[in-house]
Amino acid sequence: MGTDKDTRNDSYTAPAKDHSYLIRQCTFEDIERVKEVNEKELPEDYPFFFYKSILDNFPESFLVAHTKDDPNNIIGYIMWRIEKTPSKNSLRLLNKAHLVSIAVSKDHRKKGIASALLSKSMPMIGKRNVSEYVLEVRVSNYHAINLYEKFEYKKEGIKKRYYKDGENAYFMVCPAD
Ligand code: COA
Repeated sequence: MGTDKDTRNDSYTAPAKDHSYLIRQCTFEDIERVKEVNEKELPEDYPFFFYKSILDNFPESFLVAHTKDDPNNIIGYIMWRIEKTPSKNSLRLLNKAHLVSIAVSKDHRKKGIASALLSKSMPMIGKRNVSEYVLEVRVSNYHAINLYEKFEYKKEGIKKRYYKDGENAYFMVCPAD
């Protein structure tokens, strides 16, 4: 599937506390900058082709935030993928929306950007007939846990030594409507 510039959606103002930023779909040209934000803000890094494959397969929920004055100044992103898992009661496969990654640059935090990214992207990935939204988060990452709880994610369990450095993850789940 192509991911060239022509697929870029018009930017729209995010419904948030601060209007110094805009949110739009990620494009191929944005990937390097998204990768830079990720590498600065999170210990988990991904190769370029990984971002490209998320963009090719789930473009509607791969969103970026940029400053209002510069569409190339990426200050946050969110990306999701769909995972198929057997249902508890049958062999039927269910679609789970898995939050792959979200980050906001330090200088732009606490302006509602992550909230806007989540509230815009969940309905987009949700259109793929998802039964629930799931994610992992470091047990020490209180900011992110607060954010997810605000969106009604609940801790469903702990994944021991989930991260490369040995830290545990909470597995959090939010049912789809
Ligand atoms: N202290 C406590 N709670 C915080 C917080 C902080 N410093 N920053 C965010 N939150 C929680 C609050 O519940 C907040 O709601 P409130 O403003 O009504 O109190 C909610 O998150 C939404 O805040 P928002 O401004 O939308 O978040 P943000 O744009 O600052 O981004 C993160 C939040 C977690 C994405 C950001 O801190 C970040 O990029 N962290 C590094 C990357 C990361 O940890 N990603 C998650 C990996 S699972």
